[in-house]
This record gives sequence, C-alpha cells and structure tokens, in this order.
Amino acid sequence: MANQVGQEREQWGSKIGFILAAAGSAVGLGNIWKFPYVTGTNGGGAFVLIYVLMVACIGFSVMLAELVIGRRAQLNAVGSFEKIKGGAWPMVGWLGLACGFLILSYYGVVGGWTIKYILHSFTGLMEIAGAGNAGEAFGGFISNPVMVVLYQAIFMFSVIWVVYRGVGEGIERYCKILMPALFILMIILIGRSVTLEGAGAGIEFYLKPDFSKVTAGTVLAALGQAFFSLSLGMGCMITYGSYLQKDISLPGAAAQVCFLDTLVALLAGLVVFPAVFAFGVEPGAGPGLTFITLPGIFSKMPGGMMWSGLFFLLLFVAALTSAISLLEVACSYFIDKGWTRAKAAWTMGTLIFLLGIPSAISLGGGLKIGGKDFIDAAGFMTDQIMMPIGGLLICVFVGWVIKDIAKEELTNNGKLPLFAGFDAWVMFVKFVAPLSILYIFITGLKW
Ligand code: PHE
Repeated sequence: MANQVGQEREQWGSKIGFILAAAGSAVGLGNIWKFPYVTGTNGGGAFVLIYVLMVACIGFSVMLAELVIGRRAQLNAVGSFEKIKGGAWPMVGWLGLACGFLILSYYGVVGGWTIKYILHSFTGLMEIAGAGNAGEAFGGFISNPVMVVLYQAIFMFSVIWVVYRGVGEGIERYCKILMPALFILMIILIGRSVTLEGAGAGIEFYLKPDFSKVTAGTVLAALGQAFFSLSLGMGCMITYGSYLQKDISLPGAAAQVCFLDTLVALLAGLVVFPAVFAFGVEPGAGPGLTFITLPGIFSKMPGGMMWSGLFFLLLFVAALTSAISLLEVACSYFIDKGWTRAKAAWTMGTLIFLLGIPSAISLGGGLKIGGKDFIDAAGFMTDQIMMPIGGLLICVFVGWVIKDIAKEELTNNGKLPLFAGFDAWVMFVKFVAPLSILYIFITGLKW
C-alpha cells in the first residue's frame, strides 16, 4: 500500500503485534492513574459497573468503527476521511489531530512525574512519605516549574525516540516487551495489596455498587473515561488500524483490545483500593491518589522502596506506550504527505512539548482558565468534549455514510463470514451510540 505521495507505507509485523500496540495505546495513565481516582471520587462500585457497560456498548462499537475506517483507507486520520468520502468529513480527522496534540501536551507532564517518582522512590520518598509528608512533597514537586518541565522533556524525548524508530521497529517492538512486563508487575502488586491487613474494606468499596451516588455527571464521567481509556474518538485507532494487514478480522481484534484495556483498569483498582483502605486513606482524594497516598502506603510496607519503584515503573511503561500512539496520530499525517519519520517525530514532538509547558507550570498556582488549572481545563476539553464529539461523528460516518463499505471491510472483502453481532453493531453505530453520547453530553456537561 502506498501513501499519498506514492511511497510504501509501514505495517504491523503480526496480528499479536497490533493487539499489543493497540492495547499499549489504550492501557495508560487513564487506567492506572485516572481510573482509580475517578472511581474513588464517583462513589466506587456503581461507577465501575456503569463504566464497564459504557465500554461494552459504546466503546467497542466506536473502536470497531475506527478500525474499519483506518484499514479501509490505509491512511492517517485526516487522509482516511479524504480518501473514503471527502467533503467536510476530513474535519473529523482534524479534530482528532488537534485532540491528540492537546492530550499529549498534558499527558507528557504526568508522564514526567512518573519518571521523577521512579527515581524518588530510591532517594528519600519512603522517609518523607513515612513521616506523613507525601502530600507536601508532591505539592512541592509539581509547583516547581523547572523540575516539572525537565521531567516532561525527558518523557517526551523517550516518546519521540520510539516513534522515530517506526511502526514495526519502534512501536510494535517496544510494546511487545513492555505490555507483558506491565501485566506481570501488576499481578505482583495486586498480590501485595490484597493480602494487607484490612484490605477487605477496599475490595468492598470497589466492587459493591452504591447507586445513591450516581448522577448525570457520573454517567458523563464514565463515558469520558471510556473514550479516554480506549483511545477513542480522536483518530488513534484509525491510525493504528491503517497499519493493519487486510487479512485480519477486525471485530475480534477490537474485542481483544477492549477486553485487555478494561482488565487492566479493573486490576489497577485492585492494586489501589485494598491498600488505600488497609491504611485508612481517603479514597476520594482525587488526582493525588496515586502520587500521594500510594507512596504513603508503600512506606509502611517492608521493602517499600522496591514496591514503590516497581509501581512507578509500571506507570511509566503504561504512559509511554500510550504517548507514542498520541504522537503517531500527528506524525502519520505528515509521513503520508511525504515527510521523513525523523522530521515528523522531532517536529511534532517538540511542538507538543512546548504546548505542554502551560500545563506543566499551571500547577504551581499560576495559569488558570475559567477557574480551572490549565492542565485540568485541557483534560476537560479533550475527554468530555472533543473525544465524545469525535466518537459521535465517527459513528454517524460509519453507520450512515459508509455502511456498505464497512460491510466489505468487516468481511475482508467477502472472504470471511459476517460476524455474528453485525446487525447489533450497525444499530449501535447508527442510533444507540450517537444518541446516548448526545444525551449524556447534554445532561452531564458542567464546567
Ligand atoms: N488511552 C490512554 C490512557 O488510558 C490515553 C490515550 C488517549 C492514548 C487517546 C491515545 C489516545 O492513558
């Protein structure tokens, strides 16, 4: 397959390579850092249940729709819409590119925190946290602009490096090593967390639904979280789908990625909540839950330094494999236009790094937009506005505009039987997903 200037396009080496890369994109800070704290602030078990429903109904449908578009066109997010239909549709791709830019700008900041915390685990974090000062230490760190920007730069450099190496040699190769490593690390940490004394109360909070805490805002939060966690609505899965071989069955691949992502989010809750309750910490502590409460917990465990180092390494790995997919969305566009990979990765990576600086320094108390810290405002824009709108338009496009093409793509041009859930999926992309996104969006949106 050629790109828009006739050059040969890259492809994944194998199906499992694609699954791990797409799961690498999906599994990230969204699962390990955000999912537990959003669950904590939204009342626990009931949120978990709504979240899983969102993934199964809306998330899977949108993911499949994106893979259909990408594999059909074998081009980046903007080029795919241009090639398949044209008109105003490429705007959806542009919205995705902008969204990816914005997400990575602040994602890189939090990615930088993980590097700081891996190192800090071995250089005094345990003593500080043991004395009950993890909150001050975290506050001190994130309000020091020079340090935050420095670590953000190191993180962004790692991201650019992997993307620069390419689809097979970079993204796929690293994900194939890093994703299984992440899974093993996670299992070890769960083993530690659930065997702590008093862990039972945490498991109960996490798994026992209390619907009295559910509001329209909770449902929008679950929807936004599902989009963010599955990397949907912004062209990432279109881009990754565009490197897929024509003989791979898409519904199975989409289901596997959704399953792995949700599994890791659910497991992350099992690392965090038993420990949070075992040590009597507040589960609704918000974004600091991971960076403040967990070091406190680790400091009270034998070998805490090692557990802490391992945990933040896990968070770093997850963040890295997601960040590369965010950078790839923009790079893919320029590479299809004939840029070299090196030029695309360095130029886009540097621009995104610069765009992230306001987020990086906003936590020092400076930059605010409409009463929110810059970084929170950026997060709100992407998860609760841009991604749901992108997802909605992608569903409308696949369900209403290119339904017949989708059928061809889902059967690999008639070589495979149509998957059993096809009719249901069409109903979902045509009606259920767009209408529920719209409804949740209108009722739940609150700055
Ligand atoms: N899914 C990633 C996470 O959970 C974030 C992400 C969003 C990555 C959108 C790519 C695209 O952290």
